[in-house]
Amino acid sequence: SRHLIGLRDMPRERMLTLLDRAQHYAEGHDARSALAGTAVCTLFFEPSTRTRLSFQLAAQRLGADVLNFDASTSSTSKGETARDTLKTIEAMGVRGFIVRHKHDGAVAALAAEAAEGTHLINAGDGRSAHPTQGLLDMLSLRQAKGGDFSSLKVLIVGDVKHSRVARSDLHALRTLGAGQIRVCGPRALLPDDDTLKDCIVSQDFDAALDGVDAVMMLRLQRERMEDGLVASLEDYHRDYGLTAARLARADAEAVVMHPGPMNRGVEITDEVADGPRSLVLRQVANGVAVRMAVLESLLRR
Ligand code: CP
Repeated sequence: SRHLIGLRDMPRERMLTLLDRAQHYAEGHDARSALAGTAVCTLFFEPSTRTRLSFQLAAQRLGADVLNFDASTSSTSKGETARDTLKTIEAMGVRGFIVRHKHDGAVAALAAEAAEGTHLINAGDGRSAHPTQGLLDMLSLRQAKGGDFSSLKVLIVGDVKHSRVARSDLHALRTLGAGQIRVCGPRALLPDDDTLKDCIVSQDFDAALDGVDAVMMLRLQRERMEDGLVASLEDYHRDYGLTAARLARADAEAVVMHPGPMNRGVEITDEVADGPRSLVLRQVANGVAVRMAVLESLLRR
C-alpha cells in the first residue's frame, strides 16, 4: 500500500521485512541519501513527545527535509480543517505526512483526499491504530526473546478500551504467531467488541501474570475517559499496578514494556519502570529505527 494506516491487513512477510530493516538501523547504520530531496511533514492534531520526535529524527537520518506542523500553534486555531491543512502543505511539494489525530479513522479519511504521489503514515488515530508503535513493540520483543513468537506468552494490561497501541500490538502479535495472548484489566476498561476475540481475558492481574514472558502495560488514558470508569487511582494501582512483587509471578526472564508516557505510581511503579526487566527506553530507541524503515519503504523512489 501507498500509506501505512494500520497493521490489521499487513501481510506477515511485509511485517518481517520492515522489522529486519529496522533491526539494521537499530544496529547503527544510516542512509543519509535515501530520502535526499524528499520533504516530509509531521502533521499532529494531538500532543506527542516520542512519536513526533522519533519520526523527525528518522526522516533526518534518511536525508529528508522535515517540516513540523503542530495544530496548537497553527491556523487550525483559526478554523482551518485537517483536509485543507494537508492540501496546503502538499502544495508546497511535501510527499510524506506523519499524521496523529484524535478521531478514529481520521488518517484513512485524509489519505483518501491525498494526491497520487502523497504517502500518509498513521502516528495514532483515536482508539484505532498506532502501527509504528506496534512495530517497535514487536522489534523490542524480538530482540529480547528471539524471532520465534510461537512459544511466547504475552500479557497486555490495563486500559485496552481506549488504547490504539493495544489494538496495533494485538494485530502484530497475531500476525507473528504469538503462542498465547492474555489481556487483563477492569471490565469497564476492556472493549466489548471483537478486539479480544482470541485472547485469554481476565480481571485478576496476579493470576494473569503467572509464567508470562512479556508484560505490556498500558497508560490509563484519563483524557479519553468518561467519568466513573475508574473508581480511584489508588484502587486502580492496587488492582492493576505492576509492582516488583507482582512481577515475580511472571517468568524469571520476563520483560516489561510500556509505550509511554507512563503514569508512574498508577499502572507501573518506579522500581519496575526503571528496573532490569524494563524495555521502556529500548522501545523508544527502536522507535527511531522502525520509523526509518517505514519512511524508507514508503517514500524511497
Ligand atoms: N507512545 C507514544 O505514542 O508516545 P507519544 O504520545 O509521546 O508520541
